[in-house]
Amino acid sequence: MDVIINKIHQLTANIRAFELISATPVALPSFEAGAHIDVHLKNGLIRQYSLSNCCSETHRYVIGVLHDDNSRGGSRCIHTEYQEGDRLTIGEPRNLFELHPNTKQAVLFAGGIGITPILAMAYRLKHQQIPFELHYFVRSHEMIAFYGNLTEHFAEQIHFHIQDQPETQCDMKQVLKNISTQRHLYVCGPTGFMQFVMDSAQQAGWSPEQLHQEHFVAQQINESENKAFTIEVLGSDLKIEVHPHQTATQALLENGFDVPVSCEQGICGTCMIRVVAGIPDHRDVFMTDDEHALNNQFTPCCSRAKTKNLVIDLT
Ligand code: FES
Repeated sequence: MDVIINKIHQLTANIRAFELISATPVALPSFEAGAHIDVHLKNGLIRQYSLSNCCSETHRYVIGVLHDDNSRGGSRCIHTEYQEGDRLTIGEPRNLFELHPNTKQAVLFAGGIGITPILAMAYRLKHQQIPFELHYFVRSHEMIAFYGNLTEHFAEQIHFHIQDQPETQCDMKQVLKNISTQRHLYVCGPTGFMQFVMDSAQQAGWSPEQLHQEHFVAQQINESENKAFTIEVLGSDLKIEVHPHQTATQALLENGFDVPVSCEQGICGTCMIRVVAGIPDHRDVFMTDDEHALNNQFTPCCSRAKTKNLVIDLT
């Protein structure tokens, strides 16, 4: 659907918030805290951005975008090629990072740009009068995004942990000591940060059902170690060679099989397909370890094969 960029706010030196409103008289579809939208950029890329505003708002979506120095073209494009008043094409909100329905207390952890879905969760929890704490980790005070929103709406819940201010260091043991089963933990941020939070929670005795995370960044893979493998599509006689330099989706496309893709990094799950035989080499961060262990589906945008051949079902 088409939206208009109504306002752009420079939140930090390299983070901007984009307020999107409907381009037609039709209201925007509703969303739940933790949801994201696909943004179709004018350079042809599709990128996912979390919605940061309160999900009770029906007149706008707010996304926060980090202009990443290592941008593969998505964040650079939206920062440099879009102004207020421009149109954007987006997908309907989808939620892969929902608040668990049993959440009666919560602890939210955000690292850097990971504040974007966490902020929407904070609005929702406050609206539902569910007690929570919000721990926001940044390198310096200038890198705090949505500072005004956080201090205005969540003065009692927000704790800033600023790397260059040692006195603000987080006492993880203290924060995580209450492991009541109705207390849920939500974390979003860089991979290392999320791993640190998840490891700390597990060591403190939290169960996996209480822990929820959202990935922004794909797994780091050394592609020079890629090996060729073949794919058979159930019901077809073709044996499709996936060369080391290409992805399974590229090889499938060359042979006339179009698999829908979005992030192309193993984050969103859009491309997931069923595996009937063979063992995938999972490189996504979308599925859980348990789902990976089943080896009955894989993400062909980034994952490969441990066996010489994979048989997939595209029906
Ligand atoms: S396209 Fe997003 S996981 Fe494959």
